[in-house]
Amino acid sequence: MGTLHIIDHPLILHKLTLMRDKKTGSKDFRELLKEISMLMAYEVTRDLPLEDVVVETPICKTTQKMLAGRKIGVVPILRAGLGMVDGILSLIPAARIGHIGLYRDPQTLEPVEYYCKLPTDAKDRELIVVDPMLATGGSSSAAIDFLKQRDCTHIRLMCLIAAPEGVERVQKDHPDVNIYVASLDERLNEHCYIVPGLGDAGDRLFGTK
Ligand code: PRP
Ligand code: URA
Repeated sequence: MGTLHIIDHPLILHKLTLMRDKKTGSKDFRELLKEISMLMAYEVTRDLPLEDVVVETPICKTTQKMLAGRKIGVVPILRAGLGMVDGILSLIPAARIGHIGLYRDPQTLEPVEYYCKLPTDAKDRELIVVDPMLATGGSSSAAIDFLKQRDCTHIRLMCLIAAPEGVERVQKDHPDVNIYVASLDERLNEHCYIVPGLGDAGDRLFGTK
C-alpha cells in the first residue's frame, strides 16, 4: 500500500490556516499556495537518489553528491493544481510540466476528463501529480489512471488537504503511489467537500465565485 506522508511543518500549518480562512482573498490564497507547494516539494523529493560526482573547488578536487536517476515531471490536475506548479518549479526549475484537465461532475461527483498533454518522455520521468484537494479521491485516482494508461510507472501524489475517504480510495486504486499532504482533515460533508477544508480550491484560487 502507498504510504501517506503528512508534512506538518509549522510554517506549512501556519500558512495553511491562513488559506482556510474564508476572509483570505484570491491574491493571498495564490501566494500562500505557491509558498506551501515549495515547502512541501522539499519533503516530497527527500528520497530522490544521489550519485557521486567529482568537482574541483578553488582549493582541491573533491567527490560530492548530485541528483541521479529519473528526471522530474510535475502534473497539475486542472484547474486548482496549477496553483502548485510555480512553487515546485522554484525548487526544481528543470522539471517538465504535464497537464490533466478534470472536473468533478456536480451531480454524479465522478471525474470528467477534458484535457491531457504530457511531456513526450513522461514515462521515463518521476512524476509528481499535484492537486490541492483530495476529497473523494475520484479526480486524483483518475489522473493517475491516465498516466498509467500512457505507460508512466513512477508516480507520487502531492495534495494540500486530504479527507480520509480520498486517501483510502487512492491507496486502494493505486497501492504503488505514495501520497504527501499537509493535512489529513476530518471527513467529507454531504456535498463531498472536505471538512473543515478550505472550500472550493479552484474558485478561491481564480476568483470565480
Ligand atoms: C476539485 C479539486 C480536485 C477535486 C477533488 O476540482 O481541485 O481536483 O475537486 O475532488 P475529488 O477528490 O472528490 O475528485 P474541481 O472538480 O472542483 O475542478 P476545478 O479545479 O476546475 O475547480
Ligand atoms: N474540491 C474542492 O475544491 N474542495 C473540496 O473540499 C472538495 C473538492
